[in-house]
Amino acid sequence: MSEPRIFEGLEGVLVARTELSEVDGACGRLTVRGHPIEALAGGLPFEAMLGLLLDGKLPDAVRLAELVAELGTARARAHAALAPRFAALCSNDAMTTLLSGLATLPNDATSSDALATAAVTTAHWIQTQRGEPLLSPRPELTHALDLLAMANLPAASEAQGKLLDAYLVTVAEHGFNASTFAARVTASTGAALPAAMLAGVATLSGPLHGGAPGPVLDMLDAVGEPERALRYVRAELLAGRRIMGMGHRIYRVRDPRAFVLERALEAFRSHDRSSPRLELARAVETAAEAELSRKYPERAIRANVEFYTALLLEALAIPRPAFTAIFACARLAGYAAHYAEQRRTGRLIRPSALYVGPHSGHP
Ligand code: COA
Repeated sequence: MSEPRIFEGLEGVLVARTELSEVDGACGRLTVRGHPIEALAGGLPFEAMLGLLLDGKLPDAVRLAELVAELGTARARAHAALAPRFAALCSNDAMTTLLSGLATLPNDATSSDALATAAVTTAHWIQTQRGEPLLSPRPELTHALDLLAMANLPAASEAQGKLLDAYLVTVAEHGFNASTFAARVTASTGAALPAAMLAGVATLSGPLHGGAPGPVLDMLDAVGEPERALRYVRAELLAGRRIMGMGHRIYRVRDPRAFVLERALEAFRSHDRSSPRLELARAVETAAEAELSRKYPERAIRANVEFYTALLLEALAIPRPAFTAIFACARLAGYAAHYAEQRRTGRLIRPSALYVGPHSGHP
């Protein structure tokens, strides 16, 4: 008897209907509730993306102000709850600390509570690593600006806030990626929202999911000068190593989010003292694309979102070990929308596995 087909990794397996986003890997398009990502990122604050994800439509001015105020109040609440016990829950690892922060949420916590707790925990982690005091949130600021301010990042100005908004909007939602799926599996059991957020963030902590931007910067450091890019890439490929920030499981063209983040960085450029870094990155991308096309002519391996994420978070002076936690601060918005959709429309997710262990000898 032939063995049934097994879809390890679930590639290509449809497990749900979703109205949240469409990832078109062949054409390189990301659409969130009918809006191309290019139309959302770079012009809207994170709160508008949150409104789009949760309410199904872009917020008008009144709803937007409501969302800004709601997140601001939630940050103040999160700080009051976390600050007195932060030393006890903080570890050397930003993602472990983020999980500990989220684990303090009660079962009836809202999506704003989860987003606020993530931002406050991440900012406090950055301050603690520097040996600096925890800073209180300023509820009147937007979520992005206050995240920068609480982390005491240099010049948390409008331009920096806009750049972080572009990032948070770009990565808030991306189909049935591994961590979103984990959050939906948890939601499908009827578990409370914080449990689903924890499942999502725990899954995001793995290096195959949210961990490439730090290594992208290590690579740029190692290359040093644009003229050395080709030599570096060739040597890496010859040694059998992967070029970080290149390639994607679904996209067979350049990741649309790479374009969006690159454009946001260009807009920031007049304020961006690290623009030689952008030139270096472009040289590495060009060299990597050329060499990878030569090595894998059948398979387009192009820049992914992490490549320009690295440059963007670096331009904001966010420390490398906090990159994945900042990613989580954005992606929690997607998890929250998926949680609601799963609870509304979904069914208990319970796949099967082919048993290949020993048999008991029962007739
Ligand atoms: N550099 C060098 N070679 C790469 C590569 C990269 N960035 N990405 C894929 N390849 C090669 C693999 O080595 C493999 O070659 P082989 O058949 O000779 O072993 C082939 O392309 C297919 O790789 P595979 O891992 O099956 O592709 P995938 O679609 O599952 O991988 C990634 C997607 C993202 C895991 C992969 O492209 C990668 O590791 N990229 C670097 C890490 C990264 O940027 N991660 C962030 C993703 S958003």
